[in-house]
Amino acid sequence: MTFTIGIIGTGAMGAGIAQVAASNGCKVLLHDANSQMLQSAMEGIKASLCKLVEKEKISEADKIKALDNISTHQSLNDLGPCNMVIEAIVEDLSIKQKVFSQIEQIVSTKCILASNTSSLSIASIAAACKNNERVVGIHFFNPAVLMPLVEIIPALTTSENVFNESMKIIKSWGKVTVKAKDTPGFIVNRLARPYYGEAIKIYEEGMADFATIDHAMKTLGGFKMGPFELMDFIGNDVNYRVTETVWQQFFYDARYRPSLTQKRLFEAGLFGRKTGKGYYDYSSKELAKPATDEALLQKIFIRIMAMLINEAAEALFLQIGTRDDLDMAMVKGVNYKQGMLKWADELGHETVLNELNYLHNWFGDDRYRASTLLKQKVQDGQLFY
Ligand code: NAI
Repeated sequence: MTFTIGIIGTGAMGAGIAQVAASNGCKVLLHDANSQMLQSAMEGIKASLCKLVEKEKISEADKIKALDNISTHQSLNDLGPCNMVIEAIVEDLSIKQKVFSQIEQIVSTKCILASNTSSLSIASIAAACKNNERVVGIHFFNPAVLMPLVEIIPALTTSENVFNESMKIIKSWGKVTVKAKDTPGFIVNRLARPYYGEAIKIYEEGMADFATIDHAMKTLGGFKMGPFELMDFIGNDVNYRVTETVWQQFFYDARYRPSLTQKRLFEAGLFGRKTGKGYYDYSSKELAKPATDEALLQKIFIRIMAMLINEAAEALFLQIGTRDDLDMAMVKGVNYKQGMLKWADELGHETVLNELNYLHNWFGDDRYRASTLLKQKVQDGQLFY
């Protein structure tokens, strides 16, 4: 039986997900409210498949088969035959709820309804449907064709069958799946927050400049990009919005507090690479030189790592994901060398806890409070692995 996938919203994410599904033998029905977006999504998918042929990653026949699997539809009503619909429209709860309540009446009762939302709760989207058992979060990473990770998020109301079926389908597309609790940022967007937040705080205190902080994390932690390079790459508009949303959804917990530094860049339109200027000026040929003081680099590294590990430990404590899923998500979703719980075992739990306690005491700021699980591990002398 041919599996038919509907994609609603064919921007950056929808187009990528469509390409993945079509390349894995699914029939894909694309719908977007804007017919120009539908057309440019098709053109984008074609160009992307051509590039894969050029690089000899797929054959010409694979490309033709994938393109044959995709059709575009101006009317949402055409999505009736779908077995699964993935929504990837604008990040706005009321618009998403409207689309979910419409699509529910068009597809069969067996059709799975998924949202690719990054920051809204799946529960709030599912609430728009009469049959909320079939609504699930399926969160791809950008670019969806290249990034292996997909977070699968059951809402409170999602049936086990729908969750298991979703896992099976996404795995069959060659993706790495992790199960995440329906909480702000799910796994990756939550666990990665300190990489940016603590780096900015270190800069704000005048401890080091962008280039030095980036250099510390790349050389000592094996991160492919330093925090400031990465924020400029993601876009300070996108990164700031995620930070602010996560913070608001955690009832303004100090752990997730955004920074004024990034807010000002966002307000000024200094988004990073896409605008030519962010933390760095991309028009300048002179690259900023990092400081090479080993003790300073080590200080920066341990502080950011302690915050990253603390967040991962707290997420494990609160059962946001399993140990293996939490670690796997950071490797496959944001290219970390290894997960933070593995890092914790390597750096030593006591070193991490001492750093957090020192920062907590020094700044008197709740953002540095140590995770209960980390304290317990130190007390019991136990490792995560
Ligand atoms: P985008 O802005 O590139 O595309 C959104 C598309 O939805 C546009 O083509 C727009 O015309 C269409 N659309 C808007 N309202 C619609 C409606 N009522 N019916 C049908 N089509 C409609 O957005 P992007 O970046 O692709 O994001 C889509 C979703 O994926 C959002 O929920 C976002 O949070 C999530 N996401 C985004 C990631 C990213 O890095 N861009 C990563 C992971 C998830």
